[in-house]
Amino acid sequence: MKYSSNSSRPIHIAVSGTPGAGKTTLSKRIAKILGIKYISLIDVILANKLYQKYDRRDKTYDVSMGKVEKYLQKNLNFRESYVIDSHLGQLLSKKIVEGVIITTCELSVLNKRLLRRKYSAQKIRDNLDAEIFSVCYTQSVDNKKKTIKIDCTKKLKEKEIKDITNHLRRHLLLQRPL
Ligand SMILES: Nc1ncnc2c1ncn2[C@@H]1O[C@H](COP(=O)(O)OP(=O)(O)OP(=O)(O)O)[C@@H](O)[C@H]1O
Ligand SMILES: [Mg+2]
Repeated sequence: MKYSSNSSRPIHIAVSGTPGAGKTTLSKRIAKILGIKYISLIDVILANKLYQKYDRRDKTYDVSMGKVEKYLQKNLNFRESYVIDSHLGQLLSKKIVEGVIITTCELSVLNKRLLRRKYSAQKIRDNLDAEIFSVCYTQSVDNKKKTIKIDCTKKLKEKEIKDITNHLRRHLLLQRPL
């Protein structure tokens, strides 16, 4: 069964994790299997200037979570199901995101993925540290989100993705009132 945009019981999830751990790959596959909307939060942030400034040295945006939250509260259609792809997804309020999937990756593989992006040594080090200390996972749990970790070191089989979506159906949908 697909979750059509006019489903009476939509699901709202985020896929988060360290840069390069596999968020975009996994969230697009989940969105396709469930037949729900895929939202790239960074695209929304850039298109609507939901950041304070651009740091040229680190090539990063200083995102304003207050602005992001406000924008999404106003513009999301909560009657439709969606998956938000962002390493900041776990910081959004429960109104926007009910459950969070954290993608993880073995350090040696993550290191190779980040090296391919030609990140600076310092940026790679910072991201590997974030993975070692499970920063996104810890933030998600601290924010009282239902959180699961998915290892995205190797390509996930169709069956594994189906198991994840079934888990989401059971743990997010069934707890909502009919
Ligand atoms: N499960 C997986 N198995 C093998 N390779 C993967 C897997 N998931 C992602 N990759 C590969 O790892 C790289 C990074 O994946 P992806 O872009 O999905 O990560 P991301 O977390 O979205 O990164 P970013 O934070 O920069 O947006 C890509 O080359 C992708 O093909
Ligand atoms: Mg991505």
